[in-house]
Amino acid sequence: MYKLVKPLFFTMDAETAHHRVTGGLKTFHRVWGAKSLLKQAFSLNDSSLEREVFGLKFKNPVGLAAGFDKNAEFVEEFASLGFGFVEIGTVTPRPQMGNDKPRMFRLPKDGALINRMGFNNQGVEVAAMRLKYFTNRNGLIIGGNIGKNKDTPNEEAVNDYLICFDKLFDVVDYFVVNVSSPNTPGLRDLQEKGPLTLILNALQKQNRLKEHSKPILLKIAPDLTDSQLDDIVDIVKETNIAGIIATNTTISREGLYSEEALISEAGGVSGKPLAYRSTEVIRYLSEKSNRSFPIIGVGGIYSAAEALSKMQAGASLIQLYTGLVYRGPGLVKEICKQLVK
Ligand SMILES: Cc1cc2nc3c(=O)[nH]c(=O)nc-3n(C[C@H](O)[C@H](O)[C@H](O)COP(=O)(O)O)c2cc1C
Repeated sequence: MYKLVKPLFFTMDAETAHHRVTGGLKTFHRVWGAKSLLKQAFSLNDSSLEREVFGLKFKNPVGLAAGFDKNAEFVEEFASLGFGFVEIGTVTPRPQMGNDKPRMFRLPKDGALINRMGFNNQGVEVAAMRLKYFTNRNGLIIGGNIGKNKDTPNEEAVNDYLICFDKLFDVVDYFVVNVSSPNTPGLRDLQEKGPLTLILNALQKQNRLKEHSKPILLKIAPDLTDSQLDDIVDIVKETNIAGIIATNTTISREGLYSEEALISEAGGVSGKPLAYRSTEVIRYLSEKSNRSFPIIGVGGIYSAAEALSKMQAGASLIQLYTGLVYRGPGLVKEICKQLVK
């Protein structure tokens, strides 16, 4: 089915196609009987798929990566497509437009995307309100990916993360601190040990004030050096956060076959070219830490085989973005089926 409609969507600009697909899914989901039809076609329920990770029970280990549903508009629809968890965001305290369009590009020859969205989102309050009214969760785990506004200086970034944390606290199951997007100028400087420890400690302090604290994870870039990854292992221990999401998009252009004009678009590369490096990062962190914290593996998962290799490298859960664009929603069930086997 997706093979039939994909060529039509691929004639559109990538971001327009994204909105048509998600909008169409939402409209269809409202039709009587559509929800159970989608569930039947795309979901796989099997107790062997269940996972308990950082204290949460996941129906299956396949999640929707951040960025696909930035404003928490389609959470129920993605649950019907078989995902065990959905990560909304990145949200920022105040709404922001993001970078000028076009800002998302397909590289079909590479099975990749380049994006420089720049945290376009409607603001944390809008996302929190939508999630508040989504009560029929049926075991779906929801993550809240949080960031800072573009015009907030790095020295004040901690306040933005704290605002998002507080506003989402009652409506998400876990948090992700995003300091690894290449599209907000200076953001990735926050991955350095000093500022990162400060942000994570402040969030953990706030977390401890709550009646029941929630898992906080850190999402990292694939472009970190080994010594920066060693720092990350130390920081996880020192701040006692729940785990790592590896990885975000890469600024590297290595090994791409597409036309020069496309490759030279600014932004982060996702999809197939990222698969090897993100798995390498997962393995490195897993070995260096003696598997002492959970890792969510993301980056170039196009097949059940790639999902399995991320898990063998040390990932407890995995997430999809670009694979969904190129392979369609059937990929979730394909991975789950293989995991059951
Ligand atoms: C268009 C687009 C927007 C994204 N937006 C976000 C975001 O807002 N926050 C975030 O943490 N990651 C974001 N990502 C990164 C993905 O969550 C994921 O880490 C990355 O794309 C690698 O996975 P993939 O190869 O399966 O796409 C975005 C990716 C794409 C392609």
